Amino acid sequence: MSGTSSSSVLVFFWCAAAICCFIFGLTGVTEAQAPSTQPSQAPTSQPQATTDPSEVIALNSIFQHWGIEANAEQWNTTGDPCSGAAIDSTEFDNSDYNPFIKCDCSENVTCHITHLKVYGLEVVGVIPDELWTLSFLSQLNLGLNYLSGPLSSSIGNLTRMQYMSLGINALSGELPNELGKLTDLVAISIGTNYFSGPLPSELGNLSKLQQLYIDSSGVSGEIPLTFANLQSLQTLWASDVELSGSIPDFIGSWLNLTSLRFEGNSFEGPIPSALSKLTSLIELRITDISTTNGSSSLGFIKNMKSLTSLVLRNNNISDSIPSNIGEYQKLSLLDLSFNNLTGQIPPSLFNLSSLSILFLGNNKLNGTLPEKKSSSLLNVDVSYNNLIGSIPSWVNETNLQLNLVANNFTLDSSNSR
Ligand SMILES: *[C@@H]1O[C@H](CO)[C@@H](O)[C@H](O)[C@H]1NC(C)=O
Ligand SMILES: *[C@@H]1O[C@H](CO)[C@@H](O)[C@H](O)[C@H]1NC(C)=O
Ligand SMILES: *[C@@H]1O[C@H](CO)[C@@H](O)[C@H](O)[C@H]1NC(C)=O
Ligand SMILES: *[C@@H]1O[C@H](CO)[C@@H](O)[C@H](O)[C@H]1NC(C)=O
Ligand SMILES: *[C@@H]1O[C@H](CO)[C@@H](O)[C@H](O)[C@H]1NC(C)=O
Ligand SMILES: *[C@@H]1O[C@H](CO)[C@@H](O)[C@H](O)[C@H]1NC(C)=O
Ligand SMILES: *[C@@H]1O[C@H](CO)[C@@H](O)[C@H](O)[C@H]1NC(C)=O
Ligand SMILES: *[C@@H]1O[C@H](CO)[C@@H](O)[C@H](O)[C@H]1NC(C)=O
Ligand SMILES: *[C@@H]1O[C@H](CO)[C@@H](O)[C@H](O)[C@H]1NC(C)=O
Ligand SMILES: *[C@@H]1O[C@H](CO)[C@@H](O)[C@H](O)[C@H]1NC(C)=O
Ligand SMILES: *[C@@H]1O[C@H](CO)[C@@H](O)[C@H](O)[C@H]1NC(C)=O
Ligand SMILES: *[C@@H]1O[C@H](CO)[C@@H](O)[C@H](O)[C@H]1NC(C)=O
Repeated sequence: MSGTSSSSVLVFFWCAAAICCFIFGLTGVTEAQAPSTQPSQAPTSQPQATTDPSEVIALNSIFQHWGIEANAEQWNTTGDPCSGAAIDSTEFDNSDYNPFIKCDCSENVTCHITHLKVYGLEVVGVIPDELWTLSFLSQLNLGLNYLSGPLSSSIGNLTRMQYMSLGINALSGELPNELGKLTDLVAISIGTNYFSGPLPSELGNLSKLQQLYIDSSGVSGEIPLTFANLQSLQTLWASDVELSGSIPDFIGSWLNLTSLRFEGNSFEGPIPSALSKLTSLIELRITDISTTNGSSSLGFIKNMKSLTSLVLRNNNISDSIPSNIGEYQKLSLLDLSFNNLTGQIPPSLFNLSSLSILFLGNNKLNGTLPEKKSSSLLNVDVSYNNLIGSIPSWVNETNLQLNLVANNFTLDSSNSR
């Protein structure tokens, strides 16, 4: 089905975007200082700081496994990895250097590898165990490669880890419980992989976690109760994974949440009204909820006035469109299609100054189409409803994509098209 394939293409790009966040979105990274710029405290001249020998061996071995090498003009200029751009002010995320490392040489004469990037280098194979010995790593980006095999439980040794991206690879097996030991984690991306089994309840120990990307990762099962502790979460992307059970009420207590994506999961409805406390949400996407236990209402969105994207497609929502929808001034995408919406379309909805995409198809909306439409609104689908009346004059606007089929409009001479 074309709809399915286009949505998986979209998922791919969301995950790619998540990785880009890691590469381009990080700030406040403490740059390692070159030892030559440090004031020498010892009376005798300080020797050149060099990389911890065990880390050199590990890094060389990892790169050898993966068939990659440092660009010698950028770093590893002396044969010692913590050199050149790895220890100067070159930024880890914003530089094109790839593969790349950053080091911390501040302690005595030994440098430690703190950052490692091997992003989109078509690396094939397993993650060598030596990686889990680089215990000073705080940032790791292995996204967009062909890495396969399971994640070792030794990942739990990297307790300084803050930003970790393993997204868009071919990793498999269950997620190790030891991920819960990485209690400094701020962001983790494992999306688009072949993992299996549940989300470890130990992940609930990651109280500093702000971003969790698990789209299309292969995990399944219920969201562990321990996730109630993830109070710092700002972003949770969990689309196209077989998460089941009900959407937990405790998500309503993640008050800093700005982006939530639960599309194409195996959740049973209804959508909990506790989500109404998430007033910081900018993006909310919940689709394809099965609702044998009863239908959802739209009441929970009533205070989410910061939303720019609201997608609640195919959730068997039995309600009318809120009459205060005109207060959602930032809304640019609204998709409420494939529900059981009744009543009329509030004219204020077509008047929202930021709204550009509006999908209301396959509901039971009645009444007429609003006579006025904002100029920003250029993609409208109200097909398969019970709309009546004449077709408004704005339908002939250039660049407007409009689907009106399967309604009960009356055609008069002024709108023969
Ligand atoms: C660093 O350079 C040395 C000497 O040229 C080389 O043996 C080693 O593999 C390089 N390490 C990396 C990580 O590229
Ligand atoms: C660094 O030097 C300090 C003071 O000389 C010493 O106490 C400490 O053990 C050294 N650390 C390492 C890792 O060598
Ligand atoms: C991780 O730490 C455990 C316990 O200290 C140790 O037994 C194991 O060898 C470590 N793994 C690696 C890859 O260093
Ligand atoms: C981590 O989580 C597990 C399971 O949720 C729990 O039993 C354990 O006590 C937690 N560990 C720490 C250090 O909080
Ligand atoms: C939520 O965000 C606020 C404002 O940025 C911050 O002060 C607070 O610590 C955050 N809460 C948690 C649990 O992270
Ligand atoms: C749905 O109803 C069944 C049977 O009453 C119950 O076991 C299940 O927990 C309910 N699911 C949700 C999501 O409420
Ligand atoms: C929608 O919800 C109603 C309860 O309001 C339920 O009877 C019906 O089976 C649901 N439909 C679907 C497709 O889940
Ligand atoms: C749709 O909503 C109407 C009115 O709320 C209700 O009577 C009907 O049962 C709902 N249909 C389904 C399939 O949920
Ligand atoms: C449409 O929006 C304009 C400006 O945002 C406002 O003045 C007007 O009252 C609105 N009309 C309706 C029907 O909401
Ligand atoms: C629209 O449907 C509702 C019931 O859902 C009904 O009360 C109302 O009269 C209908 N309005 C029009 C204009 O048909
Ligand atoms: C659209 O149609 C109306 C009459 O229904 C007409 O007044 C208006 O000029 C047309 N606009 C365009 C862009 O064709
Ligand atoms: C459409 O309109 C016609 C004429 O007004 C009416 O007979 C018919 O029942 C309507 N169909 C629906 C699905 O509302």
